[in-house]
Amino acid sequence: MTLRLKFGWLGIAALLVAFGANLVTFGANAQSKFPGEGGVNLDVPYVPTAQGVVNRMLEMAQAGPNDIHYDLGSGDGRIVVTAARDFKVKKGVGVDIDPVRIKEANANAKSAGVTDRVTFLQTDLFKFDFSEASVLTLYLLPDVNLKLRPTILNALKPGTRVVSHAFTMGDWRPDNQAAVESEALYFWVVPAKVSGGWEWKIGSDNYRLDLSQEFQVVTGMLQGPGGQSKLLSTALKGEDFRFDASVPRGGAPVVMHFVGKLSGNTLTGAIDFAGTQRSQITATQAK
Ligand SMILES: C[S@@+](CC[C@H](N)C(=O)[O-])C[C@H]1O[C@@H](n2cnc3c(N)ncnc32)[C@H](O)[C@@H]1O
Repeated sequence: MTLRLKFGWLGIAALLVAFGANLVTFGANAQSKFPGEGGVNLDVPYVPTAQGVVNRMLEMAQAGPNDIHYDLGSGDGRIVVTAARDFKVKKGVGVDIDPVRIKEANANAKSAGVTDRVTFLQTDLFKFDFSEASVLTLYLLPDVNLKLRPTILNALKPGTRVVSHAFTMGDWRPDNQAAVESEALYFWVVPAKVSGGWEWKIGSDNYRLDLSQEFQVVTGMLQGPGGQSKLLSTALKGEDFRFDASVPRGGAPVVMHFVGKLSGNTLTGAIDFAGTQRSQITATQAK
Protein backbone atom coordinates (compact mmCIF):
# COMPACT_ATOMS: atom_id res chain seq x y z
CA MET A 1 0.00 0.00 0.00
CA THR A 2 1.59 3.29 -1.03
CA LEU A 3 0.02 6.55 0.09
CA ARG A 4 1.96 9.44 -1.39
CA LEU A 5 0.47 12.29 0.56
CA LYS A 6 2.08 15.61 -0.23
CA PHE A 7 1.84 17.11 3.22
CA GLY A 8 3.82 16.45 6.35
CA TRP A 9 2.26 16.44 9.79
CA LEU A 10 -1.20 16.04 8.32
CA GLY A 11 0.13 13.28 6.08
CA ILE A 12 1.61 11.42 9.01
CA ALA A 13 -1.58 11.96 11.04
CA ALA A 14 -3.68 10.61 8.15
CA LEU A 15 -1.43 7.57 7.90
CA LEU A 16 -1.66 6.94 11.64
CA VAL A 17 -5.43 6.82 11.25
CA ALA A 18 -5.25 4.74 8.06
CA PHE A 19 -2.90 2.23 9.68
CA GLY A 20 -4.66 2.38 13.05
CA ALA A 21 -6.13 -1.10 12.82
CA ASN A 22 -2.77 -2.55 11.79
CA LEU A 23 -0.57 -1.03 14.45
CA VAL A 24 1.58 -3.59 16.15
CA THR A 25 3.12 -2.74 19.50
CA PHE A 26 6.18 -4.69 20.55
CA GLY A 27 6.69 -4.96 24.32
CA ALA A 28 5.26 -2.79 27.04
CA ASN A 29 7.31 0.37 26.34
CA ALA A 30 8.14 -0.13 22.69
CA GLN A 31 6.80 2.18 20.04
CA SER A 32 4.17 1.23 17.50
CA LYS A 33 5.15 -0.35 14.21
CA PHE A 34 3.60 0.16 10.80
CA PRO A 35 3.56 -2.36 7.99
CA GLY A 36 6.01 -1.51 5.20
CA GLU A 37 5.79 -2.51 1.57
CA GLY A 38 8.83 -4.77 1.50
CA GLY A 39 7.58 -7.16 4.19
CA VAL A 40 9.19 -5.17 7.03
CA ASN A 41 7.76 -3.32 10.01
CA LEU A 42 8.36 0.41 10.07
CA ASP A 43 8.85 2.77 13.02
CA VAL A 44 7.49 5.57 10.83
CA PRO A 45 5.07 5.19 7.90
CA TYR A 46 6.21 6.35 4.48
CA VAL A 47 5.16 9.90 3.65
CA PRO A 48 7.45 11.78 1.23
CA THR A 49 8.45 15.39 1.92
CA ALA A 50 7.21 17.81 -0.76
CA GLN A 51 10.06 19.09 -2.96
CA GLY A 52 9.67 22.74 -1.88
CA VAL A 53 9.99 21.62 1.74
CA VAL A 54 13.05 19.48 0.90
CA ASN A 55 14.76 22.55 -0.62
CA ARG A 56 13.98 24.67 2.44
CA MET A 57 15.27 21.96 4.82
CA LEU A 58 18.62 21.92 3.02
CA GLU A 59 18.75 25.73 2.89
CA MET A 60 18.11 25.89 6.64
CA ALA A 61 20.96 23.43 7.18
CA GLN A 62 23.18 25.53 4.87
CA ALA A 63 24.17 22.28 3.15
CA GLY A 64 27.13 22.73 0.80
CA PRO A 65 30.20 21.16 -0.83
CA ASN A 66 32.01 20.52 2.49
CA ASP A 67 29.13 18.54 3.94
CA ILE A 68 28.41 14.89 4.53
CA HIS A 69 24.65 14.57 4.58
CA TYR A 70 22.61 11.76 6.12
CA ASP A 71 18.84 11.28 5.92
CA LEU A 72 17.50 8.71 8.39
CA GLY A 73 14.43 7.01 6.94
CA SER A 74 15.26 8.25 3.46
CA GLY A 75 12.15 7.05 1.60
CA ASP A 76 12.56 7.48 -2.18
CA GLY A 77 15.84 9.34 -1.55
CA ARG A 78 14.61 12.78 -2.56
CA ILE A 79 16.40 14.69 0.24
CA VAL A 80 19.71 12.90 -0.33
CA VAL A 81 19.45 13.27 -4.12
CA THR A 82 18.57 16.98 -3.85
CA ALA A 83 21.46 17.61 -1.44
CA ALA A 84 23.93 16.00 -3.86
CA ARG A 85 22.50 17.43 -7.11
CA ASP A 86 21.48 20.97 -6.07
CA PHE A 87 23.49 21.68 -2.91
CA LYS A 88 26.62 19.80 -4.12
CA VAL A 89 27.31 18.00 -0.82
CA LYS A 90 30.43 15.87 -1.14
CA LYS A 91 28.74 12.73 0.19
CA GLY A 92 25.16 11.71 0.87
CA VAL A 93 23.84 8.66 2.69
CA GLY A 94 20.23 7.56 3.03
CA VAL A 95 19.05 4.67 5.16
CA ASP A 96 15.67 3.03 5.02
CA ILE A 97 14.48 -0.27 6.41
CA ASP A 98 12.09 -0.84 3.51
CA PRO A 99 13.77 -2.46 0.47
CA VAL A 100 11.11 -1.00 -1.86
CA ARG A 101 12.18 2.53 -0.83
CA ILE A 102 15.87 1.69 -1.33
CA LYS A 103 15.15 0.47 -4.87
CA GLU A 104 13.28 3.72 -5.65
CA ALA A 105 16.05 5.83 -4.11
CA ASN A 106 18.75 4.12 -6.17
CA ALA A 107 16.70 4.65 -9.34
CA ASN A 108 16.22 8.34 -8.45
CA ALA A 109 19.96 8.78 -7.77
CA LYS A 110 20.70 7.25 -11.17
CA SER A 111 18.26 9.57 -12.99
CA ALA A 112 19.77 12.58 -11.19
CA GLY A 113 23.32 11.50 -12.11
CA VAL A 114 24.57 11.50 -8.50
CA THR A 115 25.38 7.83 -7.91
CA ASP A 116 29.08 8.69 -7.49
CA ARG A 117 28.33 10.69 -4.33
CA VAL A 118 25.29 9.04 -2.75
CA THR A 119 24.65 5.67 -1.14
CA PHE A 120 21.39 4.13 0.05
CA LEU A 121 21.53 1.39 2.63
CA GLN A 122 18.74 -0.90 3.68
CA THR A 123 19.08 -0.95 7.44
CA ASP A 124 17.38 -0.05 10.70
CA LEU A 125 18.17 3.56 11.56
CA PHE A 126 18.46 2.63 15.25
CA LYS A 127 21.28 0.21 14.49
CA PHE A 128 23.18 2.51 12.17
CA ASP A 129 26.25 4.69 12.80
CA PHE A 130 25.62 8.17 11.37
CA SER A 131 28.33 9.92 13.41
CA GLU A 132 30.18 11.20 10.32
CA ALA A 133 27.22 13.41 9.30
CA SER A 134 27.77 17.17 9.23
CA VAL A 135 24.15 17.67 8.11
CA LEU A 136 21.37 15.38 9.33
CA THR A 137 17.79 15.48 8.05
CA LEU A 138 14.83 13.73 9.65
CA TYR A 139 11.17 13.24 8.85
CA LEU A 140 10.24 10.71 11.47
CA LEU A 141 7.92 10.88 14.50
CA PRO A 142 8.22 12.61 17.89
CA ASP A 143 9.04 9.43 19.82
CA VAL A 144 11.59 8.36 17.19
CA ASN A 145 13.29 11.79 17.33
CA LEU A 146 13.44 11.50 21.12
CA LYS A 147 14.93 8.03 20.93
CA LEU A 148 17.61 9.33 18.53
CA ARG A 149 18.32 12.45 20.58
CA PRO A 150 21.04 11.00 22.89
CA THR A 151 22.95 9.71 19.85
CA ILE A 152 22.58 13.05 18.07
CA LEU A 153 23.89 14.91 21.13
CA ASN A 154 26.66 12.48 22.07
CA ALA A 155 27.87 10.83 18.87
CA LEU A 156 27.66 13.68 16.35
CA LYS A 157 30.38 16.30 16.20
CA PRO A 158 29.57 19.67 17.81
CA GLY A 159 28.46 21.99 15.02
CA THR A 160 26.54 19.31 13.10
CA ARG A 161 23.33 20.83 11.71
CA VAL A 162 20.10 18.91 12.19
CA VAL A 163 16.80 19.70 10.46
CA SER A 164 13.58 17.89 11.32
CA HIS A 165 10.46 18.10 9.23
CA ALA A 166 7.33 18.46 11.39
CA PHE A 167 8.65 17.14 14.70
CA THR A 168 10.58 18.60 17.61
CA MET A 169 13.12 17.02 19.97
CA GLY A 170 11.20 17.32 23.23
CA ASP A 171 12.76 19.91 25.54
CA TRP A 172 15.82 20.50 23.30
CA ARG A 173 14.55 23.75 21.90
CA PRO A 174 15.39 24.48 18.26
CA ASP A 175 17.96 27.16 17.33
CA ASN A 176 15.69 28.18 14.47
CA GLN A 177 12.35 27.22 13.00
CA ALA A 178 10.36 28.01 9.90
CA ALA A 179 7.08 27.20 8.21
CA VAL A 180 7.03 26.34 4.53
CA GLU A 181 4.03 25.14 2.55
CA SER A 182 2.21 24.84 5.92
CA GLU A 183 4.93 22.50 7.21
CA ALA A 184 6.94 23.19 10.36
CA LEU A 185 10.71 22.81 10.11
CA TYR A 186 13.05 22.76 13.12
CA PHE A 187 16.79 23.41 13.11
CA TRP A 188 19.43 22.63 15.74
CA VAL A 189 23.20 22.89 15.93
CA VAL A 190 24.72 20.09 18.03
CA PRO A 191 26.25 21.93 21.01
CA ALA A 192 29.73 21.25 22.39
CA LYS A 193 29.95 20.18 26.02
CA VAL A 194 31.15 23.22 27.95
CA SER A 195 29.76 22.49 31.41
CA GLY A 196 32.20 22.33 34.31
CA GLY A 197 34.92 24.56 35.70
CA TRP A 198 37.37 26.56 33.54
CA GLU A 199 40.44 28.45 34.73
CA TRP A 200 42.74 31.03 33.16
CA LYS A 201 44.97 33.96 34.00
CA ILE A 202 45.15 37.50 32.65
CA GLY A 203 48.48 38.94 33.84
CA SER A 204 48.63 37.99 37.50
CA ASP A 205 44.81 37.81 37.85
CA ASN A 206 43.25 34.37 38.22
CA TYR A 207 39.79 33.66 36.82
CA ARG A 208 37.51 30.69 37.25
CA LEU A 209 34.29 30.12 35.32
CA ASP A 210 31.75 27.49 36.40
CA LEU A 211 29.30 26.59 33.67
CA SER A 212 26.07 24.58 33.70
CA GLN A 213 24.49 23.50 30.45
CA GLU A 214 21.17 22.22 29.23
CA PHE A 215 21.62 21.46 25.55
CA GLN A 216 22.76 24.81 24.02
CA VAL A 217 21.60 26.90 26.99
CA VAL A 218 24.50 27.80 29.29
CA THR A 219 24.51 29.62 32.63
CA GLY A 220 27.44 30.29 34.89
CA MET A 221 29.35 32.14 37.59
CA LEU A 222 32.65 33.92 37.09
CA GLN A 223 35.14 34.26 39.94
CA GLY A 224 37.79 36.95 39.41
CA PRO A 225 40.02 39.24 41.44
CA GLY A 226 37.09 41.57 42.21
CA GLY A 227 34.74 38.80 43.41
CA GLN A 228 32.03 36.59 41.98
CA SER A 229 29.49 37.51 39.29
CA LYS A 230 26.71 35.69 37.49
CA LEU A 231 27.07 35.64 33.70
CA LEU A 232 24.83 38.26 32.08
CA SER A 233 24.42 36.38 28.81
CA THR A 234 25.86 33.40 26.95
CA ALA A 235 25.60 31.92 23.46
CA LEU A 236 26.73 28.44 22.43
CA LYS A 237 26.57 27.37 18.78
CA GLY A 238 28.42 24.14 18.12
CA GLU A 239 31.92 24.85 19.49
CA ASP A 240 31.55 28.64 19.35
CA PHE A 241 30.97 30.14 22.77
CA ARG A 242 30.61 33.69 24.06
CA PHE A 243 29.63 35.24 27.33
CA ASP A 244 29.26 38.62 29.02
CA ALA A 245 29.76 39.21 32.73
CA SER A 246 29.68 42.36 34.80
CA VAL A 247 32.92 42.55 36.79
CA PRO A 248 34.21 45.17 39.24
CA ARG A 249 37.19 47.00 37.76
CA GLY A 250 38.82 50.14 39.13
CA GLY A 251 35.96 50.60 41.60
CA ALA A 252 33.16 50.40 38.99
CA PRO A 253 31.40 47.53 37.22
CA VAL A 254 32.42 46.93 33.58
CA VAL A 255 31.25 44.31 31.11
CA MET A 256 33.73 41.57 30.36
CA HIS A 257 33.16 39.95 26.94
CA PHE A 258 34.51 36.57 25.91
CA VAL A 259 34.38 35.26 22.33
CA GLY A 260 36.03 31.97 21.52
CA LYS A 261 35.60 28.28 21.01
CA LEU A 262 35.99 24.97 22.70
CA SER A 263 38.78 22.94 21.11
CA GLY A 264 39.33 19.59 22.72
CA ASN A 265 39.81 20.25 26.42
CA THR A 266 40.54 23.96 26.14
CA LEU A 267 38.45 27.06 25.73
CA THR A 268 40.41 29.56 23.65
CA GLY A 269 39.44 33.06 22.64
CA ALA A 270 39.59 36.75 23.38
CA ILE A 271 38.48 38.69 26.43
CA ASP A 272 37.98 42.44 26.61
CA PHE A 273 36.67 44.80 29.26
CA ALA A 274 34.04 47.10 27.72
CA GLY A 275 35.92 46.94 24.42
CA THR A 276 39.36 47.72 25.87
CA GLN A 277 42.31 45.72 27.25
CA ARG A 278 41.86 42.82 24.87
CA SER A 279 43.67 39.60 25.85
CA GLN A 280 43.92 36.19 24.24
CA ILE A 281 43.22 33.45 26.76
CA THR A 282 43.35 29.69 26.93
CA ALA A 283 41.18 28.29 29.70
CA THR A 284 41.76 24.76 30.91
CA GLN A 285 39.39 22.50 32.79
CA ALA A 286 39.52 23.06 36.53
CA LYS A 287 40.69 20.07 38.55
C1 LIG B 1 8.00 9.90 6.78
S1 LIG B 1 9.00 8.91 5.70
C2 LIG B 1 10.24 10.09 5.24
C3 LIG B 1 10.89 9.81 3.90
C4 LIG B 1 11.93 10.84 3.46
N1 LIG B 1 12.90 11.12 4.50
C5 LIG B 1 11.25 12.12 3.06
O1 LIG B 1 11.25 13.06 3.91
O2 LIG B 1 10.74 12.21 1.95
C6 LIG B 1 9.82 7.85 6.88
C7 LIG B 1 10.68 6.77 6.28
O3 LIG B 1 11.32 6.07 7.33
C8 LIG B 1 11.44 4.70 6.98
N2 LIG B 1 11.60 3.95 8.22
C9 LIG B 1 10.66 3.65 9.14
N3 LIG B 1 11.18 2.96 10.16
C10 LIG B 1 12.52 2.84 9.89
C11 LIG B 1 13.61 2.24 10.58
N4 LIG B 1 13.48 1.65 11.77
N5 LIG B 1 14.83 2.31 10.00
C12 LIG B 1 15.01 2.91 8.80
N6 LIG B 1 14.01 3.46 8.10
C13 LIG B 1 12.77 3.46 8.65
C14 LIG B 1 10.15 4.43 6.22
O4 LIG B 1 10.29 3.29 5.35
C15 LIG B 1 9.94 5.73 5.46
O5 LIG B 1 10.49 5.65 4.16
